Amino acid sequence: MRELLLAGLSKLEYRGYDSAGISVIADGQIEAVRAVGNLSALETKLSGAAAARQNGAVAVAQKPATTGIGHTRWATHGRVSEENAHPHFDSDDRVHVVVNGIVENYMALKERLLGEGCVFTSETDAEVIAHLIAAHYRDDLAEAVRLAFGELEGHYAFVAMSLEQPDLLVGARKECPLIVGRGEGEQFVASAVPAFLSETRDVQYVENGEIVVLRPEGVEIMTGDGAEVQRGVEQVDWDQETAEKGGYDTFMLKEIHEQADAVADTIFDRTARGDGVDLDEEGALDESILKDVKRIVVVACGTAYHAGLIGRYALEEWARVPVEMDIASEYRYRNPVVGPGDLVIGVSQSGETADTLAAMRLARERGATVLAITNTRGSQATRDADGVLYTRAGLEIGVAATKTFVCQVAVMYLLALRLAELRGTLEPARIAELVAELKRLPHCIDETIERCESQAEEIAKTCWDAEFFFYIGRHVGLPVALEGALKLKEISYISTDAYAAGEMKHGPIALLDEATPVVCVATRSPVLDKLISNMQEARARGARVIAVATEGDGEVEPHSDASIAVPATDWMLQPIIAVIPLQLLAYAVARSRGLNVDQPRNLAKTVTVE
Ligand code: AGP
Repeated sequence: MRELLLAGLSKLEYRGYDSAGISVIADGQIEAVRAVGNLSALETKLSGAAAARQNGAVAVAQKPATTGIGHTRWATHGRVSEENAHPHFDSDDRVHVVVNGIVENYMALKERLLGEGCVFTSETDAEVIAHLIAAHYRDDLAEAVRLAFGELEGHYAFVAMSLEQPDLLVGARKECPLIVGRGEGEQFVASAVPAFLSETRDVQYVENGEIVVLRPEGVEIMTGDGAEVQRGVEQVDWDQETAEKGGYDTFMLKEIHEQADAVADTIFDRTARGDGVDLDEEGALDESILKDVKRIVVVACGTAYHAGLIGRYALEEWARVPVEMDIASEYRYRNPVVGPGDLVIGVSQSGETADTLAAMRLARERGATVLAITNTRGSQATRDADGVLYTRAGLEIGVAATKTFVCQVAVMYLLALRLAELRGTLEPARIAELVAELKRLPHCIDETIERCESQAEEIAKTCWDAEFFFYIGRHVGLPVALEGALKLKEISYISTDAYAAGEMKHGPIALLDEATPVVCVATRSPVLDKLISNMQEARARGARVIAVATEGDGEVEPHSDASIAVPATDWMLQPIIAVIPLQLLAYAVARSRGLNVDQPRNLAKTVTVE
């Protein structure tokens, strides 16, 4: 069992992890073994248990076991530590769980459970699930899971086991994936097929809101109300590489589909209070520095620069702080005027981009306070900065940044709202309204992907062979246009240009003709009328206008040749949703050209050279 769990976890290694653990039931005992670091740290710890066995003290994890669970963690809530690694367990150490995703109402549940005498040993939201199941347990793990499931809010999937019923695993799914592998006299359940692909290719997909009960002889699926669900068994014919892509053709597409989870992870505990944002977390800047900041300078490269551009609008609009933006490779060579009182924000998913690091160091040497926004714990940016705010996108393998971009934008929004709170520049009611909208974003992102994927494919069929694409936007739509153009050029090798729509008439309009697709970010905003005028100007030159519009905004469609509607949200937050059809369009065009989108030519995921 131990080897089987480790082998399964190793197949999920591509996701990255900072700690791992397993629990098994053996010989009437249950035990979790957890270790900080990658899987080899866990293996070493388990072999330490093997050494103990030779000395006569047999660790539970070494005894023959038939039931077990395992997990690799990418820290979201709670620092990287053995206590925060999964599996988590209840106070009596009888119910163990592994959890992916987030439990949004964990604070209220934890308070209640603490009042009932539960003893918590980790800082995670996940641990609450073990205590909740134990509190509901009356000789029936499936029923206890069902009752607990009914009380949990969020975006998660978990699997539980109990010492009282050693031949049983019970899982539940809300948004995060959960897949069953069917065997003969043995059953498997995991967040992704590769974990059990060496054992079986017969799978059953657990749907949202469902509970799954595994016994050696078979599997039952039920709804949250306890009604039985009939689900057919499907065969996967994936090879290992396809399996690691979760069944998607490419990592990029998989990562596009992971965006809702990534944004949910990034914002959830930071917006838990509902009426504001909490960023007073490990590694963050002292809030007194944030409050008194006189000016902000954002430095970044590529996609991260575009996220910074969106952040600038939010920081100025909500927190009323002047913001300058600079491309990191330019900033360091222009002898910038920067010093005490300035906050310089370096945005970098890798935290290792040489130009961004150099810009951050220069600013720090001149006395500015430096904040890193990064996806990578332990990266150089985290060491070179005075404070860090993490995006929680998980590992991104595709060279073209997608899920890390939306998470960078989400962190920018969080920072702008927190600054607005600290500086009193927004009414509390407006902050609460924006926080509520932020919390809706993961659902809007899911809806957008579901709606837009096939539309983007249809549009790509009409323009995949174009030699040049032009992108326009205004206000927060401009960075979205810039990012859409970058996505298309880097993975399809088509020449693109992106401009502020109002600038088109000052030169670039000369480029337009019947062969030019013009992609317009025409989502709802106070400048939408002006953007529609620019769309008309492009069409008057024979160009083919492709618009991204907000659903319900009927005025955009008549002025476009093709349009994609995205769900409505506050117009300042619209970029995080509007960018998705552009990612999908770039993807569909590049695939139509038969290109390798995960590893485009000449590019590297992390650019550590000047
Ligand atoms: C975008 O798809 C690219 N991967 C690239 O522009 C990237 O955003 C840039 O190189 C910056 O990387 P960083 O976020 O790791 O600093």
